[in-house]
Amino acid sequence: MTTAERRRILITGASSGIGLEAARILVARGDELTLLCRNRERADQTRAVLSDSVQICIGDLADLASVAKVIEHLRQNQEPFDALVLNAGLQYAGHGSPRWSAQGIELTFAVNHLAHQLLAEGLKEQTRAIVITASEVHNPATGGGRVGQPAGLGMLKGLRQGPGAPMLDGESPFNADKAYKDSKLCNLLMALQIHRQRPEVPVVAWSPGLVIPRTSGGFFRNSRQANPLGQALFGFVARDLMRLSESVEQAGALLVQLIDEQLHQPGFSYWSNGLLGPGRHRFSPTQPSKEATDSSKSTTLWGLSSDLITASAAKSN
Ligand SMILES: NC(=O)c1ccc[n+]([C@@H]2O[C@H](COP(=O)([O-])OP(=O)(O)OC[C@H]3O[C@@H](n4cnc5c(N)ncnc54)[C@H](OP(=O)(O)O)[C@@H]3O)[C@@H](O)[C@H]2O)c1
Repeated sequence: MTTAERRRILITGASSGIGLEAARILVARGDELTLLCRNRERADQTRAVLSDSVQICIGDLADLASVAKVIEHLRQNQEPFDALVLNAGLQYAGHGSPRWSAQGIELTFAVNHLAHQLLAEGLKEQTRAIVITASEVHNPATGGGRVGQPAGLGMLKGLRQGPGAPMLDGESPFNADKAYKDSKLCNLLMALQIHRQRPEVPVVAWSPGLVIPRTSGGFFRNSRQANPLGQALFGFVARDLMRLSESVEQAGALLVQLIDEQLHQPGFSYWSNGLLGPGRHRFSPTQPSKEATDSSKSTTLWGLSSDLITASAAKSN
């Protein structure tokens, strides 16, 4: 790869799972990676797995003040990123009570959405294209989105209350699985809003499908604490028996495919790795849910999220 072909890519959530697999491929190709890792320990582990050549910023997405510091640091180097990959995410389905970010905001929303909106906005002058890892569970009409409480933000009454609201709609009783689905709906609405603000910037949201790693860490780590046997059974049935899941390596390769192929195309697209049958997926452009295409909701969500970020910054000063 020549220097001209080498891309500068910033990735969140590359210390594990899909982001780590994508980073392995990109490093091997010679791309220049900057990874946001939550602490020094995760940074050292990630560098040891990938390469000493990756640059690492320490930043906890569960703390908006920490994210703001990362932005300040990255802004000092004026060189643009060819892609900003907003991939980090968590869920703690199975737990009965909410967890909170440093600013007292429900954790799934704070990490999966709010911290990423702050990054996207804070680095907009330096960003040529954006990829956001969302999920099909944002869509109550499809697959996993139909199981359990559906995604839905209502009139965003919870977000209007500011920190301390367990659910964004301000009405549903706390449900960690729904909080996750709602956060992924927010990812789609954020992608739409960035596209409307900056139509010249390629914005790609995508869903990797169900990815259940065999390791003890990864995406289901919190749910496993709540229900170890149930989660082991779910993993075995969904991954090994019914073959409904995608491998973490392939999911990482799909993320790289989007970076390779889609980031020269201005405009918004949503790609989903749809399940065709046992062990068979098709990765293709897909229509997001009706709520995810509501431009008035995307504007409201963006505005309320900005207000919450600003209020949190004012408090920590
Ligand atoms: N796995 C699935 O079935 C599935 C399906 C649809 C969508 N997705 C989405 O895919 C994305 C990647 O998930 P994955 O399956 O690769 O899960 P994963 O293995 O658990 O990776 C999540 C990544 O996010 C990082 N992260 C979480 N909280 C953070 C924080 N406070 N500060 C900094 N980094 C933080 C983690 O860092 P640490 O390693 O330090 O924890 C890790 O690098 C997520 O957005 C998820 O919603 C996953």
